[in-house]
Amino acid sequence: MPEIKVLFATSEIAPLIKTGGLADVSGALPAALRSLNIDVRVLLPGYPKVMAQLGPNEVVANFPDLPGFPPSRLIFSIMANGVPLLVLDCPDLYQREGGPYADANGHDWVDNALRFGLLSRIAALLGSSASPLSWRPDLVHGNDWQTGLTGAYLSVAEGAVPNVITIHNLAFQGNFRPAKVELLHLPPASFNVNGIELYGKMSFLKAGLYYAYHITTVSPNYAREIQGDELGFGLQGLLRVRSEDITGILNGIDTDEWNPETDKHLPGHFSPTRMTGKAICKQALQNRMGLEVNPDVPLLGVVSRLTHQKGLDLLLEIAPRLMELPVQLVILGSGEPEMQQSALELSQRYPGKIAAMIGFDEGLSHQIEAGIDMFVMPSRFEPCGLNQFYSQRYGTPPIVHNTGGLADSVVDCTPETLKAGTASGFVFSGMTTENLFVTIQRAVALYRDQRNWKMLRKNCMTKDFSWKSSAKSYREVYLKVLGWTK
Ligand code: ADP
Ligand code: GLC
Repeated sequence: MPEIKVLFATSEIAPLIKTGGLADVSGALPAALRSLNIDVRVLLPGYPKVMAQLGPNEVVANFPDLPGFPPSRLIFSIMANGVPLLVLDCPDLYQREGGPYADANGHDWVDNALRFGLLSRIAALLGSSASPLSWRPDLVHGNDWQTGLTGAYLSVAEGAVPNVITIHNLAFQGNFRPAKVELLHLPPASFNVNGIELYGKMSFLKAGLYYAYHITTVSPNYAREIQGDELGFGLQGLLRVRSEDITGILNGIDTDEWNPETDKHLPGHFSPTRMTGKAICKQALQNRMGLEVNPDVPLLGVVSRLTHQKGLDLLLEIAPRLMELPVQLVILGSGEPEMQQSALELSQRYPGKIAAMIGFDEGLSHQIEAGIDMFVMPSRFEPCGLNQFYSQRYGTPPIVHNTGGLADSVVDCTPETLKAGTASGFVFSGMTTENLFVTIQRAVALYRDQRNWKMLRKNCMTKDFSWKSSAKSYREVYLKVLGWTK
């Protein structure tokens, strides 16, 4: 079978630039695909952080006068893991201090339509006969709304290859005023219910879902949920029409980056059969975060964006009740100001028992996964989620809401599942503070029974979360779209 050539377009990639799980996926999936003999190259914007970390590189294309867009160029480089990168360097759009989507105060960049319009435009160009590169993909694989216009541009390009889009989060849609259609040099006729229009706006994600040959999302359960009214975010109608073309593929994790035996961020290392390193991590974390150093008290932890999606308001609300159990709690996160504030207030009210760190800290996130006993993830919805994988791998059973990828990746601990060796955490249904509280109580009760707790921990640590099987599922999708036989 000939090798498949894939252009993987994304707006973030670990370790170069990361705001959430999309970066983790973009950092690991292409490498896993390459080991299946798929020639993947990653296209991403040249933000300052990306430009500053590039290894040896060369300019491979210039786009001085693409209608509607400032001058840009493509820089070829290779990531440390061997994945080739095509960095879209456009100083007018990407060379600025702040995040990929918003400025330092959290306000979205006002020219985001243009910034990600260009990313989509170039992805499409590289997938058409107008490409200046000798390497031509067989298909373009985009991710989330930031690449959503790729299919719209491909639909009017000469010699266009097919495209696939992966939904990592349907709640972020990239909806803009209709005037942007002209600004982005999209065909005026595309501003239509059969095209890029969504409730009177022009929508990057709607366009992505409409024009893609195939749609994937990051867990089988979420693939079903987004076709329903509750989690369809206004796109369920279109998704239901396209039901046959949607595949849910569970995310994997980078098992080198997240390996408790070698993790460079940890003060102690451990494996399913040698767990003393975990106790060292717990002690160091309690020390670092100003918690009472006590090996026996169950330590709960959170690493998350602090947003409505993640449901952490429930945890903050019951924190005073939790303090009676007793447990300790450590929170690392950033996001909505009220949630940040209430996490900080709790840490002041319960010194030594609750610690909160507001910000984004990769090293600390690893130390928390390793040093805590239970990870709390009560997301209202969760397309996949990655921390429940990381925590299981680090011997930290997660406590999760029964939704999205959480339901697909955590098996509730009951006497039966524990005996069968499948239990891997605690799952609650019904988004209420009471349900979360009793589930944490249930976890704490099992923790007191160290024999069973150790069994649960071992189950977690021996599960396979690598990308191996999911990468094969992506290959199946590619082959189907291309109409190639295996
Ligand atoms: P989402 O992409 O919706 O935020 P995921 O669970 O898929 O959720 O991925 C989140 C990723 O971002 C994980 O790798 C997590 O460890 C990381 N992360 C989230 N918040 C922080 C933070 N404050 N500091 C460090 N890492 C964080
Ligand atoms: C999104 C989702 C998250 C998922 C991640 C990577 O940010 O919110 O659930 O794990 O993308 O696919």
